[in-house]
Amino acid sequence: MVRSKESFSRRQLLIFASNSIVAAPLAALAGGTFPDIHVIKNPQCGCCTAWIKILIDKGFNVTSEDRSGSLLTEFKIESGVPNYMMSCHTAKIDGYFIEGHVPASEIKRLMADRPDALGLAVPAMPYGSPGMGPEDEREAYDVYIISADGTAEVFQHYAEAGISV
Ligand code: CU
Ligand code: CU
Repeated sequence: MVRSKESFSRRQLLIFASNSIVAAPLAALAGGTFPDIHVIKNPQCGCCTAWIKILIDKGFNVTSEDRSGSLLTEFKIESGVPNYMMSCHTAKIDGYFIEGHVPASEIKRLMADRPDALGLAVPAMPYGSPGMGPEDEREAYDVYIISADGTAEVFQHYAEAGISV
């Protein structure tokens, strides 16, 4: 009798434990409790502003700052963005860099998973990525995750519009 009582309460404990593990990141996602994101951008760049608007729509608290030319490039290098991953703007969220037109959902995933990495990047400016034209006309592109040694791996693949892979 005592044994079965014990195992029941242990099972309950396990249920509580697993519920709280699942609930924590979901609450963070639903409540819009992301750390603030700060964007460094070129003042002449309209697509940066379009990307910022999308982030705000998706629940992020965004601040921004204009830097042009070599100052912006310097900031990218200081942040650890490898040359071959560079795009227009560079953002910072909780110590990670976000380079280029990275979709809001990938930034949310980064905040939920907190991987050991420097940041995320969408190199260049793929057509149809957030802030770069209509999503239903997008070309295929990849979101990369960059490690401290400067290597990049695909974090998420976005297929060409109309192709479902
Ligand atoms: Cu851009
Ligand atoms: Cu930009």
